[in-house]
Amino acid sequence: MAAELRLVLASVGLLWYAGLWVIGIVGCSTARRRYRLRPRSPLAVAPASSVPGVSILRPLKGLDMNLYENLESTFTQEYPNYELLLSVADERDQALSVARELMTKYPSVNCRIIIGEEVVGVNPKVNNLVRSYREAAHDILWVIDSNVTVHPGTLARSVDALVGPPSPAPGKRRIALVHHVPFALVTEPRIGSRIEEAFLNTNHAKMYLAINTAAVDSCVMGKSNLYRRSDLERVNGSLKPIQASNPTAPQPGPCGLPAFGRFLAEDNMIASALWHELGDRHDLSCDVARNVVGNMSLSDYVWRRARWIRVRKHMVLAATLLEPFTESVVLSVICAASLGYLSGVPYWISVCVHFTLWIYVDLDVYASLAGHPLPSDVRWQFMAAWTARELLALPIFLFAVFGSEVSWRGRTYRVLRNGEVARAEPSRSWLQHIRQPKNYEPLDTGL
Ligand SMILES: *[C@@H]1O[C@H](CO)[C@@H](O)[C@H](O)[C@H]1NC(C)=O
Ligand SMILES: *[C@@H]1O[C@H](CO)[C@@H](O)[C@H](O)[C@H]1NC(C)=O
Ligand SMILES: *[C@@H]1O[C@H](CO)[C@@H](O)[C@H](O)[C@H]1NC(C)=O
Repeated sequence: MAAELRLVLASVGLLWYAGLWVIGIVGCSTARRRYRLRPRSPLAVAPASSVPGVSILRPLKGLDMNLYENLESTFTQEYPNYELLLSVADERDQALSVARELMTKYPSVNCRIIIGEEVVGVNPKVNNLVRSYREAAHDILWVIDSNVTVHPGTLARSVDALVGPPSPAPGKRRIALVHHVPFALVTEPRIGSRIEEAFLNTNHAKMYLAINTAAVDSCVMGKSNLYRRSDLERVNGSLKPIQASNPTAPQPGPCGLPAFGRFLAEDNMIASALWHELGDRHDLSCDVARNVVGNMSLSDYVWRRARWIRVRKHMVLAATLLEPFTESVVLSVICAASLGYLSGVPYWISVCVHFTLWIYVDLDVYASLAGHPLPSDVRWQFMAAWTARELLALPIFLFAVFGSEVSWRGRTYRVLRNGEVARAEPSRSWLQHIRQPKNYEPLDTGL
């Protein structure tokens, strides 16, 4: 009996392991296909009247790392018909001086600064964006975080992906959202930043691309997303499909961006709502959202991952619980134990082969997205950070999965069942004093 159970476990383990390799290879080959060649879109040089207009919305708050370059990258888009709306919540915000300087440098770009938030929910990014959202002149919106830098060809290629070919293949779903895979850029070589970089540029990108290629469900990190306001105006965040009897009518209740102010991961929810309520699909353009990783310590990194796991746990519990079994360290144990039991392969051989191939694939993903292999001068630092990230994955998961509070921009929130959040009274018990570093101000939503 025990032997049979072990046989079953070893077989299931091996199948699971093989399945994860299939996912990894799908991610890796998607990265190769999509990102190694980035052709210029014909829209980049088309006359303004023949391309759809786009309103770029950039929420700003304070002097982010690299803010000047990040903002400048939206002033230099090769696209004939766009406007740029820069939103700040507070008129004393330091980001304003950078914004004004760039407006002077690029007088031909149609750019406006929108000052003042409108509180529609707990999410400060949504509150900051609501006025720009209402004032945007065009239907297509490109919401792009202040810490993201993009290539000048990004907008034209993304509009191509959103609008699609004039006569789409039969049976193909409409595209309601175009997103960009995040690619980290480290300006401050602290340990947390390095680990975040190693994570985003290898394993995270690989899984992100694989999941979006399989397209079984919405999986969007909202650092840089394009969608249509007219679509957002029809969804209310319930994720329930729109009435089939009247597919063009909006959902009941409040719709549009303000309806998403109740979520902490609003970008995720918007993508899910367009997918589930409208039945549309997402696409990636062949661009990356170069995400400047701020000054992160090791504990910033740990808290950020923990926050992400806690939010996700309430949105997709099953997928979150499976997460540790997709990580390289746990997989090496599964592989070694299963192969050892089934065919007597020594553990050390399985583990060595596993990690060699795993690293090879991860670095190939890096090379596809970066456009070049890992530079030799950062090779050892990067690999050390990569190793730390793999070793930390399970401890962080265990720590995060027990607990529901997340700290974001110095405030504490409690995540509710459907991904909504409520402000929690900070430090209600002595326990939280121990568990949460004081004056912790996370650098990014990471959601
Ligand atoms: C959103 O739409 C769904 C499905 O049509 C509906 O059941 C739900 O009550 C609506 N939500 C709100 C807040 O009105
Ligand atoms: C990054 O943080 C460390 C420690 O908090 C600080 O010493 C350093 O000056 C910071 N660097 C920047 C560029 O803010
Ligand atoms: C990145 O941008 C978002 C939204 O603009 C902001 O909330 C976050 O604090 C930024 N992160 C960093 C590292 O500056």
